[in-house]
Amino acid sequence: MAHIIGSLTTSHVPAIGRAIAKNLQAEAYWKPFFDGYAPVHEWLRKARPDIAVIFYNDHGLNFFLDKMPTFAIGAAPEYRNADEGWGIPQLPPFKGEQKLAWHLIEQLIARDFDLTTCQEMVVDHAVTLPMALLWPDHERTGWPVRIVPVCINTVQFPLPSARRCYALGEAVGEAIRSWPSDERVLVVGTGGLSHQLDGERAGFINKDFDLQFMESLVHDPRWATQYSVHELVEKTGTQGVELLMWLAARAALGTDAGPGAVKRVHQNYHIPISNTASGLMLLEPAG
Ligand code: DHB
Ligand code: FE
Repeated sequence: MAHIIGSLTTSHVPAIGRAIAKNLQAEAYWKPFFDGYAPVHEWLRKARPDIAVIFYNDHGLNFFLDKMPTFAIGAAPEYRNADEGWGIPQLPPFKGEQKLAWHLIEQLIARDFDLTTCQEMVVDHAVTLPMALLWPDHERTGWPVRIVPVCINTVQFPLPSARRCYALGEAVGEAIRSWPSDERVLVVGTGGLSHQLDGERAGFINKDFDLQFMESLVHDPRWATQYSVHELVEKTGTQGVELLMWLAARAALGTDAGPGAVKRVHQNYHIPISNTASGLMLLEPAG
């Protein structure tokens, strides 16, 4: 059966793409952010994932307000990036892992998750930037993993609840572990942490909540499911709800073993990157 080797969660601010393109990683503004990824690179070299299942939120590139699935999954042979209007460079296409995607689709629909299945899909900065952050050598080595993107709507209300996203993550985790193969799967969650890009509270960041949330993923992973989406918006900003991706990714590691079920390998938290509290967290199943 396939192995889930870890859960890696990270922010996905578009400005990161421009910093990479302009080689600004060592500048004072960017250093505390990019330095956070060094231990992850070290871990990835040893952990050698074959596949990344990526919980992310599309921001209007593949889905727009005219058609907005609550949950969608990619089963495409390839995923391309396209111009999103941020002026960030486009990255080379990612190879899709179609067999696992269809296994997930079958398992999840059998468990009453009504997914939209996408055999064609473009992916935005919420997929491309985490991939570039995890594998900065990709221009030389190519992307070392095949991907399965799982998209959660955080753009158009009503959004799925934290409770439902947690359940989705748990079901994805169980489905991965039931896939007959020896592949090593990294579960990724992208977005957050607290941020609000517009309106009266533009620039809003809530460090206390973010740190409590990160801590909860280690010791009490269902903690955030006590909050409604509106409460999460109040606490973390309109776009801070992207933390739902972190919740789904953590849930994929499983909670059967209770507290102590995961080992924290690394985390970083830095304020701000653009308008966002940038967070990074790597968890391993403790067994
Ligand atoms: C920013 C953050 C995001 O998550 C995003 O999708 C777009 C912009 C920002 O802070 O600039
Ligand atoms: Fe975002």
